[in-house]
Amino acid sequence: MKTSEIRIIVYEYQSIKELAENEQLLLTEARKITAMAYAPYSGFHVGAAVLLDNGVIVTGNNQENSAYPSGLCAERVALFYANANYPDTAVKAIAISAAKKGVLVNEAVKPCGSCRQALAETEVRFETPIRIILDGKDSIMILNGVESLLPLSFSKKAL
Ligand code: THU
Repeated sequence: MKTSEIRIIVYEYQSIKELAENEQLLLTEARKITAMAYAPYSGFHVGAAVLLDNGVIVTGNNQENSAYPSGLCAERVALFYANANYPDTAVKAIAISAAKKGVLVNEAVKPCGSCRQALAETEVRFETPIRIILDGKDSIMILNGVESLLPLSFSKKAL
């Protein structure tokens, strides 16, 4: 038997002001679009801003549905729009923010498993690591690549 350890490095910041200027801008866009989420069932408003290799920023927010599983998370709304409209342009970063009753959540928001898988697909597709910025009042977490969110992931490399 052999044991191996997978290390995940999380960079934590206490304020948006500590981020690089382009990441402050990306996170600000995520915060802005959070306010326009359609989340009448959960009341949990999420916004995502995707930075493309050409400098374009694409945003999205969660879109819920009375038939609950028909809704979609903010990350995939933004990511799929980016992939649909810029199929040849790599995704460089994604910032994710969330609010309850209009107030930024305390703990850094963590993407669901399906969004992690969708991010992993995009990373493999463009062979470019995606920087992930997770917003919260108490801390902003930054991860360098989806491997830090979804280790040992399934991808087309296995097919
Ligand atoms: N949600 C997101 O948009 N992103 C996440 O990473 C977690 C959850 C949405 C889905 C649903 O509309 C609401 O938050 C509550 O789960």
